[in-house]
Amino acid sequence: MAKRKSRIGILTGGGDCAGLNPAIKWVVKTALDERLPREQGIQYEVMGIRDGWKGLISVDPTAPYRSEHITPLNSEVVRTWDRFGGTQLGTSRTNPYNPKDDRSKTLLSNIEKLGLEAIVAIGGDDTLGVACRLSQAGVNVVGIPKTIDKDLPETDYTLGFETALTIITEDVDKLRTTAASHQRIFVVETMGRHAGWLALEGGESSGAFIILIPEHDFSLEKVNQLVLEGRRAGARYDIILVAEGAKPVGYPDFVKGAKEDSFGHKALGGIADFLAGEIQQATKIETRSIVLSHLQRGGAPCAYDRRMGRYFGIAAVDLLVRGDFGKMVSYKGGQITAVPLEAVIGRLSLVNAETQYDIDTYNGRRTILRPESLRVKPHG
Ligand code: F6P
Repeated sequence: MAKRKSRIGILTGGGDCAGLNPAIKWVVKTALDERLPREQGIQYEVMGIRDGWKGLISVDPTAPYRSEHITPLNSEVVRTWDRFGGTQLGTSRTNPYNPKDDRSKTLLSNIEKLGLEAIVAIGGDDTLGVACRLSQAGVNVVGIPKTIDKDLPETDYTLGFETALTIITEDVDKLRTTAASHQRIFVVETMGRHAGWLALEGGESSGAFIILIPEHDFSLEKVNQLVLEGRRAGARYDIILVAEGAKPVGYPDFVKGAKEDSFGHKALGGIADFLAGEIQQATKIETRSIVLSHLQRGGAPCAYDRRMGRYFGIAAVDLLVRGDFGKMVSYKGGQITAVPLEAVIGRLSLVNAETQYDIDTYNGRRTILRPESLRVKPHG
């Protein structure tokens, strides 16, 4: 079979997380599988682009390998990468389409000059939003979903989520012993800018007493009342999980400063500290706050992120081989599949507070197979 050569680029953008390296490894291994030239008539060359879109904007396309922005990848280079967290390629929150500093012309011209026939972009809504615009401009792109927030639509899984949940669960386990010893309340802040998945599923995994999510503004009075009722019922200590994007009714977002990144996001944070102060004042129970912050994105990928990174990486190359561009690989209903990038961008996958959360107890849902809510008591 006649062989066609094709050079592809791979990059990771946005916040790092566990699971990126397994995905990179399996894109490289699948693209360089020696059976592809024989069976599909295509021979890939894989270029690793450093620091997300920033690498493609900053590279000198006439001497790419002499710069710190591009590195050729092969199976030997990536052999052990799946054991490590973060991203061996580096990442950035650079937005080439930033209206205040539009670098999209440089990006498009560098892609052409580097001879990149396709780009595999691993990222969340920001990175894949850029990928979508490139696709609309005629560039061949394939996306892989990642974000510990799990807020991308059209997929049941985004890389990094399960590792972050494991970290939350283990950290809450550690807090329990000290919280119980001192009979304290601990308010634990998780990430989750718009979506409460990390707080909700982290709270369910760790057995938190109260879970507060961005999808349902909470009442401070009710939190205090739940705590006092719990203490009257015999609780010696309390764990409250709150997502960074959650807030009491009538309050604005809790932000760390006015500065925005190049995608227009302000850094969130501070709700746990605020809430701890309010609870302590109202209940007179000693209350501490802790922000898990970037610990949730650290460490080695759990087994699930290694497997999902592998499957997503392999599926991304399957799309390349099929010439099926402008798609994001996705996990839906137990199957690895692909969806158009255009269907993913500009929407969020949020917790349905009516069906996936218990608004009465500020906790995980208590009915799963019964359609009726616990609040409706048909038998009186
Ligand atoms: O994008 C996911 C996320 O983990 C959000 O939950 C969080 O608000 C943000 O990243 C923090 O990112 P940074 O690394 O820029 O502080």
